[in-house]
Amino acid sequence: MTTKNNYILGIESSCDDTSAAVLCNTKVLSNVVATQEVHKKYGGVVPELASRAHQQNIVPVVHQALAKANIDKKQLSAIAFTRGPGLMGSLLVGTSFAKSLALALNLPLIEVNHMEAHILAHFIKDEEMSIPPFPFLAMTISGGHTQIVKVNHYFDMEVLGETLDDAVGEAFDKSAKLMGLPYPGGPLVDQYAKMGNPHAFLFPKPKVKGLNFSFSGLKTSILYFLQRETRSNPNFAQENLEDICASIQYTILEILMEKLKDAAEQTGIKHIAIGGGVAANSGIRARLENARENLGWTTYIPKFQYCTDNAAMIGIVGYLKFLENRFTDQTVAAKARYAVGV
Ligand code: KG4
Ligand code: ZN
Repeated sequence: MTTKNNYILGIESSCDDTSAAVLCNTKVLSNVVATQEVHKKYGGVVPELASRAHQQNIVPVVHQALAKANIDKKQLSAIAFTRGPGLMGSLLVGTSFAKSLALALNLPLIEVNHMEAHILAHFIKDEEMSIPPFPFLAMTISGGHTQIVKVNHYFDMEVLGETLDDAVGEAFDKSAKLMGLPYPGGPLVDQYAKMGNPHAFLFPKPKVKGLNFSFSGLKTSILYFLQRETRSNPNFAQENLEDICASIQYTILEILMEKLKDAAEQTGIKHIAIGGGVAANSGIRARLENARENLGWTTYIPKFQYCTDNAAMIGIVGYLKFLENRFTDQTVAAKARYAVGV
């Protein structure tokens, strides 16, 4: 079966991106993402608007993915979809669509955990990406997630640590918002940080036991800091934007790297993979580069289009499950909370 061309349709709708992809085994033939712009003016994702936009996008996005891959739906071998975790209204759109299409085409249906998909995106076949060997550590960092996972095998994963409150992307975005930057502010903080002094201002790091994270305290301390400074200089944030961004980014990266190093030490694993939208951050990439040289790590970062929410990562999990006949039936329901490795 493995030598044959299996065509998998992946569907992702867990948050604010409607995406569909077609894979031929581990190779991505198409990966279409409709990013919902409607949330920008609200400074964050509005769940009700997200579900409505998914409803509008899902048919054209799937259509485009098939067309770009030059595959007729009759050629598909299976349909994989994100079952959770995510926003319930958003998940329902992709789940219902995938179930209906599988029923209509009489195809096997495969449910995918979105967080496991972020990790297994490393197994997409691409000349510019290398594949981590088992076991490896995966750190998923995005607007919705912050997690360190020990990956023993495709479907044998252990969560070593995760955020107890905000995700790291939220820490970037919320800090940016406090400085008057538009949503999502993460990429802008990264850009300004490059020109600033990371030691200009000192922000406290949270004391969290084990390998868990916390980012809500940092946000509060930035809020108080800006309020205090703005009292004596109303233009403080604008005048010191580069230094503030550099200092915030420095603190966030220190928090991430400290836990990642602890995880590597505790497990003795030096193959480190990262994923999620925040993996685009130039600072984290530089830190990993440094860890390669100084700690002997081998690091893995997927291409940006496979880091942010996308259906190609759903498709690759679909393919890996397809090989093991891990199918689900029509009674499957979306799951807003869905732990990794269960
Ligand atoms: O994976 P993603 O597209 O969506 C989910 O949240 O699942 O990640 C988006 C997050 C946002 O919080 C955005 O600000 C952050 O990733 N982000 C960045 C950078 N690029 C995207 N954060 C810091 N530096 C960046 N260069
Ligand atoms: Zn995600």
